[in-house]
Amino acid sequence: MIELLYHSEAGIAFDDKLIERILTTARDRNAKEDITGMLFFDGETFIQILEGPEERVDRVFTSICQDNRHCKIGQIYRGQIFERSFADWRMGYKFTSALTGLLHEYDWEAQIELTKASQSTVNPGAQFFHFMNQSFLKIPPATSAV
Ligand SMILES: Cc1cc2nc3c(=O)[nH]c(=O)nc-3n(C[C@H](O)[C@H](O)[C@H](O)COP(=O)(O)O)c2cc1C
Repeated sequence: MIELLYHSEAGIAFDDKLIERILTTARDRNAKEDITGMLFFDGETFIQILEGPEERVDRVFTSICQDNRHCKIGQIYRGQIFERSFADWRMGYKFTSALTGLLHEYDWEAQIELTKASQSTVNPGAQFFHFMNQSFLKIPPATSAV
């Protein structure tokens, strides 16, 4: 099993309906291909984590790369994993602001080194997901009305 992590740029204007359509196609096909993962989007940049059997992940990624609704696809990481980090999600989705800046600020290399050192018990995709969750928590809750 492998994890594949990439980023891309929206090639066209994405509204909620288009995202929903992509997720429906993705989840149907991912179920058939035994692929799980997570998609982040901020209106401009996509970061996606795909995990599953090597041949199937590569096949689906080939389709994704040929999809002209996004462009400038860059693979961040592709490596063996021993277990899934997103086992329950045929494709989780989170709209989050400031992904574009984060793509350049986040220390991917350090996470990849950590993965090598831990012999894949820590995966860059899962690490990024946890980092994103922590950054959501850092956003202060709206002041509640008294
Ligand atoms: C940002 C983005 C993420 C996508 N993620 C997936 C995915 O996880 N799984 C998938 O099967 N298709 C995904 N797709 C759709 C594929 O690009 C493609 O349209 C779909 O797999 C159908 O493939 P086909 O046209 O070769 O039949 C995604 C498309 C975009 C733009």
